[in-house]
Amino acid sequence: MQLKLKLTVAAALTVVAGMASAQDVQVVKIGHVAPMSGSQAHYGKDNENGVRMAIEDLNAQGVVIGGKKIRFEIQAEDDAADPKQGTAAAQKLCDSKVAGVVGHLNSGTTIPASKVYNDCGIPHVTGAATNPNLSKPGYKTTYRIIANDNALGAGLAFYAADALKLKKVAIIDDRSAYGQGVAEVFKKTALTKGMQVVDEQFTTDKATDFMAILTAIKAKAPDAIFFGGMDPQAGPMLRQMEQLGLSNVKYFGGDGICTAEIAKLAAGAKTVGNVVCAEGGSSLQKMPGGAAWKARYDAKYPGQFQIYSPYTYDATFVLVDAMKRANSVDPKVYTAKLIETNYKGITTTIAFEPNGELKNPAITLYVYKDGKKTPLN
Ligand code: ALA
Repeated sequence: MQLKLKLTVAAALTVVAGMASAQDVQVVKIGHVAPMSGSQAHYGKDNENGVRMAIEDLNAQGVVIGGKKIRFEIQAEDDAADPKQGTAAAQKLCDSKVAGVVGHLNSGTTIPASKVYNDCGIPHVTGAATNPNLSKPGYKTTYRIIANDNALGAGLAFYAADALKLKKVAIIDDRSAYGQGVAEVFKKTALTKGMQVVDEQFTTDKATDFMAILTAIKAKAPDAIFFGGMDPQAGPMLRQMEQLGLSNVKYFGGDGICTAEIAKLAAGAKTVGNVVCAEGGSSLQKMPGGAAWKARYDAKYPGQFQIYSPYTYDATFVLVDAMKRANSVDPKVYTAKLIETNYKGITTTIAFEPNGELKNPAITLYVYKDGKKTPLN
């Protein structure tokens, strides 16, 4: 009789304990913003996958902050790579009181959105936007975990001048914050290396017909074209270069063209073999957790890998790492801990300069061998 009573009490206590712990689970939302519609949606999908994978892993680990078990959820927004939609999405995430944001993807959306996040006091970490101007205002809410375009543009110009001994380059940019910025850095460095800029042309991040500007460039007989922009333009441009007989002209670009997709978008053009692009981190092969992570990613999201998902994965963990150190999920409390980050991610060990830029960033140059992106270093 006594034993039965004891068991009943124990069972009741277990139920009560169960209820208490169920109540103690706190949902914490992490925002993500990238182009999920339009011609850059493949980049956005890859970025969002990185955040989703991080959240699954965090929830599987069972994170406890401030004595509460935390269940992380993503609030995923689309900015269509458009600056206005970027600030609207940022405001929506502020209004939804997300704890932090991973994003955005494009410099053109990230730079104006960074002010919105600063105004509402929510930190954001980008693993993709590379324009150096992002860190200029010195917002305590803005962080970047890849190299910026000062490194990418210069690295490419050094390679063109020193390794390939190219002399004459034509420059095209898409007039976006990213395209314009990275082209400007490339140009400046190329000129200091004694290269000649034989032509400068402009397009947009919506264009697909480049015959007129390529014809003008052809008349100047460059050894190389530098393109500041993204792959929905670079792919067709490479095809049109082949059509115009520019098959021996090298083609340089920053991380924006350094995707798996560019070979498909070039629709079999051999000029893909002329591409040299730069990315603001180590190659997957050299990242501390790169190969194993990529195998897991491919199993979850077959055929969707582009470029930045390892960084959006780490960016999510960087936010949560700061929450853990602050023992708070409140951005007003934990944001101050971000600057002290020293987090061993899968991409690298992440620590920040006082302006929120990554300390000691790597850059990697790539070429395309048989259409496959292949690191040079
Ligand atoms: N790195 C590219 C940008 O900054 C994606 O827009």
